[in-house]
Amino acid sequence: MRVLTGIQASGKLHIGNYFAAMKPMIELQESEELFTFIANYHSLTTSKDAKLLKELTLDAAIDYLALGIDPNRTTFWVQSDVPQVLELYWILSKFTPMGLLERAHSYKDKVAKGIPANHALFSYPVLMAADILLIDAQKIPVGKDQIQHVEITRDIATKFNNEYGEIFTLPEYIVKDEVATIPGIDGQKMSKSYDNAIDIFMESEKKLQKRCNKIISSSTPMGEPLEFNGCNIYNLASLFLDEDGKKELQDRYKSGKEGYGHFKKYLKELIWSEFEEAREKKAYYLEHLDEVKEILNDGANKMRKIADKKMTVVRDAVGIL
Ligand code: ADP
Ligand code: TRP
Repeated sequence: MRVLTGIQASGKLHIGNYFAAMKPMIELQESEELFTFIANYHSLTTSKDAKLLKELTLDAAIDYLALGIDPNRTTFWVQSDVPQVLELYWILSKFTPMGLLERAHSYKDKVAKGIPANHALFSYPVLMAADILLIDAQKIPVGKDQIQHVEITRDIATKFNNEYGEIFTLPEYIVKDEVATIPGIDGQKMSKSYDNAIDIFMESEKKLQKRCNKIISSSTPMGEPLEFNGCNIYNLASLFLDEDGKKELQDRYKSGKEGYGHFKKYLKELIWSEFEEAREKKAYYLEHLDEVKEILNDGANKMRKIADKKMTVVRDAVGIL
């Protein structure tokens, strides 16, 4: 099964991103043929700063490698290193009715948020269709907000196939099992936009502890049993625990012998040790940027071959000499 995931490079990753999106995606490489790329042409639609976009592209590559993308199993590349995708994007544009794009929620949401309504933003789903169809990806793991884009891809592919024969594989989306919304330090959905996130890569244990100390908890006095249900500290800690671990923590809450400060310290330890290996790998890759670039280059080389093969068929079908 060919599974494709596209990542937008958008800066610091938090533990909400990790448990809801990254971990399940990285686990797919155990059982599937995983293709993962950094969608920097897509990021261009909202980027204003060239230097920053370059940095974020490389940062994303490092973070994903550090967190477990295995280049021996997964093909990993940067979108712009496979320029065939832009050629396909143009060809697919001809099979994209205006109405299909006008109905796209993501476009309307972005414009409503004040992002300038330009053509790249409008035709974003066509580029995403090109990413998917270029490599005949079968399954696309996405968040709910991206389902419509996969449906648009199917519509475009169907229109093309109806005219020229079965050239494109129709992709299906996989929507992650509903990972409950992961709370931030204030109990609202953790998000980098709400200043309530706990980042995966904190500079030091001390800073992580400071962040954990800011988690809003109730104010039961020390010595009384504490309620774990609905407690932000408990909810966050349980992401890192198996059933026995959760039970143990619940017993500690109920015992009345410990206060929230103890649980914040425990949570800090859980987070710090969960990402210990990732921190080491990240430090390694930061020191070995050439290796990161080589991994991305190898991925791009492999993809360009796949893309060339597909584009030969597509060009021939539509009549491009
Ligand atoms: P943010 O809200 O921080 O900007 P993104 O929109 O970049 O995060 O989300 C990237 C991925 O992580 C998406 O698949 C999204 O559903 C998931 N995600 C982000 N925050 C959370 C959260 N607090 N709980 C569950 N999933 C989340
Ligand atoms: N639009 C996706 C997002 O914002 C990223 C993306 C671009 C993508 N091309 C893709 C995802 C192809 C899956 C397949 O999350």
